[in-house]
Amino acid sequence: MRIDVLTLFPEVFEPYVASSIVGRAVAQGIVSIRCTSFRDFASDRHRSVDDRPFGGGPGMVLMCGPVFDALEHVEAQSETKPLRILLTPQGEKLTQSVVAELAKAPRLVLLCGHYEGFDERIRTGIAAREISIGDYVLSGGEPAAMVLIDAVVRLLPGALGDEASAADESFTAGTLEYPQFTRPREFRGMEVPEVLLSGDHGKIAAWRREQSLERTLERRPDLLEARQYMALD
Ligand code: ADE
Repeated sequence: MRIDVLTLFPEVFEPYVASSIVGRAVAQGIVSIRCTSFRDFASDRHRSVDDRPFGGGPGMVLMCGPVFDALEHVEAQSETKPLRILLTPQGEKLTQSVVAELAKAPRLVLLCGHYEGFDERIRTGIAAREISIGDYVLSGGEPAAMVLIDAVVRLLPGALGDEASAADESFTAGTLEYPQFTRPREFRGMEVPEVLLSGDHGKIAAWRREQSLERTLERRPDLLEARQYMALD
């Protein structure tokens, strides 16, 4: 997969895309991530990318010119037609099923808005899928783009060391993940549940399923409503 990020702050992505699972996926060639600055596409000598809003009001608004030029520039670098994504608090909520859908695309272009907002003609003119990572306002789309990149990249084949781990996790199965334990068996008086030491794989699987359902019922009952259950559940 190729991911292009269009942003005013390309430098904030560098350490992130070089670390952990995303960094390993980049190193293995599973994904390539390139960041492009809108500022490189400014047309005046001050390299302006924003201006005061027509009609007045506080703050500055990201201008059309640098955004359209940057987008057209990166899209022309490859024949593969990308899925355009605009990060905005007004977009559809990012969920695991949206992430799984995005992970199937060969190419994504992520556009990060900034400052007080962007010219409405960016939204209407580029016809991107608009995505929000939650009901709160960030100062820019950059943290949202990083969240999206992380969630998508870990679903790409080969990105996780153990392929089973993505399938097991919270949300993939529509329920929250069961609790995990590692050595030591006892820590400050807190014991590891006996069943996990039993070596009985059937019992362990049943215990994990029960924990997962119990946790979901307790913390996120909304996730259970839409689900179909097996007799065992
Ligand atoms: N930009 C600002 N706030 C955002 C949010 N919650 N999600 C995505 N992009 C954003």
